[in-house]
Amino acid sequence: MGKNNQGTIKDIQKISEEVYSVKIYAPTVDEILPGQYISILCEGLTFRRPFSVSDFDNHIITVLIKKRGKGTEYILSRKVGSSIEFSAPLGNVFSVENKKTLLIGAGIGAAPLFYLNKKLKELKVKTFFAAGFLSKDDIIVTPHPTLSRKGRGEYDFVSTDDGSNGNKGSICDYLEKLIAEFKPEKIVSCAPRPVLKIVAQTAQQHGLDCEICMEKVMACGIGVCRGCVIQLMQGDRVINKTVCKDGPVFNGKEVVWQ
Ligand SMILES: Cc1cc2nc3c(=O)[nH]c(=O)nc-3n(C[C@H](O)[C@H](O)[C@H](O)COP(=O)(O)OP(=O)(O)OC[C@H]3O[C@@H](n4cnc5c(N)ncnc54)[C@H](O)[C@@H]3O)c2cc1C
Ligand code: FES
Repeated sequence: MGKNNQGTIKDIQKISEEVYSVKIYAPTVDEILPGQYISILCEGLTFRRPFSVSDFDNHIITVLIKKRGKGTEYILSRKVGSSIEFSAPLGNVFSVENKKTLLIGAGIGAAPLFYLNKKLKELKVKTFFAAGFLSKDDIIVTPHPTLSRKGRGEYDFVSTDDGSNGNKGSICDYLEKLIAEFKPEKIVSCAPRPVLKIVAQTAQQHGLDCEICMEKVMACGIGVCRGCVIQLMQGDRVINKTVCKDGPVFNGKEVVWQ
């Protein structure tokens, strides 16, 4: 379990219609790896709120937060310079390996893929980052300005459901085309469950490695309440795993999709 930390809010920027980039200076955190998350204490709420790490550089943690309820409203109402308490680092990691990787994000699910993409690029691994959003105003721009391309963040491919930017339709409509053109050895995805299911099944049909980052509403966050259990098929056995402690990254081939 990650240790408790005190940090300072360095910056809050609106980066799409409903999403904000929040930078936290965390002097007690030395390392966070792609796929891991932090859990932020929100005053007046019993449970901490989990957020994937979108970047970590020199003790600065970047999280991208979509405004939803009391917890996210609390965090986003904090002033620059105010202190914030959180547990970190939490969860398991994406494997960072020399395999041509297709990254598939959808909506706020793109958040952890920015950090993975940055690490893979640093290691000169070939990546292709594709992401889908509802509309042009929902496109989450990059937290890494140096990798940004005009108007499209650091994505190599964008689709919007309404066609207002990039290609029209769901990112799932383009999976076959992206696989045919980029010829990945591996797919990594973070997205709503229905998208993850299609990504994992498509990867399996093509015999590709697949890692997915799952999201479940969390309570205890330490593997005790069992509120975030998912099922994996390992050999001929179905086993239960928690997203908070065993995940959030799982082998797409093993997840049992109900
Ligand atoms: C491992 C992990 C990583 C996450 N990473 C991110 C991230 O990078 N950026 C981000 O914005 N959010 C992320 N989330 C979701 C985030 O934790 C929730 O949005 C947040 O806890 C909501 O808190 P709240 O108090 O504002 O909303 P609540 O008052 O708790 O809920 C408000 C509404 O949002 C819905 N909701 C709450 N949690 C989720 C969820 N996980 N998925 C879908 N709907 C939800 C509730 O059902 C309710 O309708 C992540 C969740 C997990 C488990
Ligand atoms: S949130 Fe309690 S076990 Fe995962």
